[in-house]
Amino acid sequence: MEIYDNYSLKEYNSFGFNVRARRFISVGNEEDILAAAEQAVKSGLKYFILGAGSNILFTSDYDGVIINASCNSVNIVEEKNRNIVVSADAGLTWDSFVEWCVNINLGGVENLSSIPGTVGAAPVQNIGAYGSEIKDVLRAVRAIRLSTGKAELFSANDCRFSYRESIFKNELKGKYFISKVYFNLIKNPDQFNTQYGNLEERVNRIGKKSLHTIRQAVMEIRGEKLPDPAITGNAGSFFKNPVINRQLFKSTHHKNREMPYYETNEDHIKIPAGWLIEECGWKGFRDGDAGVHNKQALVLVNYGNATGIEILNLAERIIESVNQRFGIELKKEVEIV
Ligand code: EPU
Repeated sequence: MEIYDNYSLKEYNSFGFNVRARRFISVGNEEDILAAAEQAVKSGLKYFILGAGSNILFTSDYDGVIINASCNSVNIVEEKNRNIVVSADAGLTWDSFVEWCVNINLGGVENLSSIPGTVGAAPVQNIGAYGSEIKDVLRAVRAIRLSTGKAELFSANDCRFSYRESIFKNELKGKYFISKVYFNLIKNPDQFNTQYGNLEERVNRIGKKSLHTIRQAVMEIRGEKLPDPAITGNAGSFFKNPVINRQLFKSTHHKNREMPYYETNEDHIKIPAGWLIEECGWKGFRDGDAGVHNKQALVLVNYGNATGIEILNLAERIIESVNQRFGIELKKEVEIV
């Protein structure tokens, strides 16, 4: 366990804000997690569990304890014919995990290539891209209940996954520390999921459909649309795609015939927030160092020295203008701290 006081979080938030934590504890195993939690509770300070900080917006210095996992091993724990169960530690970089799977021909997470963040944070918001979500391959989550120090196993069902949501973001927020995630993967798969957008076409251009070509295609598409946080601070999609009821959809679609939409069920329709924001004229907008990405309007960016408050103010202006124009309320996907 490593403990630092007045620690810079610049490398621990993908917006690149220069904020500090009163105390920062890096934990390498489950015993450390408990010791860190105990310490945080004893100190009377608030605490926060941080992954790679790629879905977080800090509005100021954090006057408490940040607990961060550094454990990063990955193992095959069960093998039955082509069904493989893999465990990965919370601190492992998500994309290193995907790369490891693709390299040994384990299928299931290739569409989720290049998503920033850690393995431990991935189930919290049920990460998803290009027609896949982590819930589709998640077998279980091992998490430590901070109040009792006991490890518990959550099945995919227990996690109550939905679009960018899980129990860890809602009822159990801040109560558990995820230490390991188990995945159901397929060895040498012959079926792939390339139906989303132009993925199939892009894969075919690269070569024969395989885990490698899918990974490469996803990385290319993401690279063209999404800013690299190492260069331009951002947290991926800042907003969720709103899911609206059919009645609201009918009235707003009637006035905006070209609005793209996806039916999610009989009563609900998902609208790409990027389209709504672009229609309101925000794409490429910049005020000081806070801006809206010019290739994907769903992504807010820090061009250098923007503060969390400035990005948050911009987000509020966008929410208001989309609401006024379409009567649709955007919800933030990024967690505000
Ligand atoms: N669109 C626009 N203008 C824009 C952006 C999008 O008109 O500036 C419209 C277009 O009609 C486009 C449609 O939105 O066809 C969908 O765009 P895209 O495929 O880029 O997906 P998205 O719905 O904007 C979601 C995820 C992304 C994920 C992509 C690909 C959310 C909130 N975002 O974006 O996830 O990479 O699909 O699967 O669901 C993230 O969560 O950080 C993230 C980047």
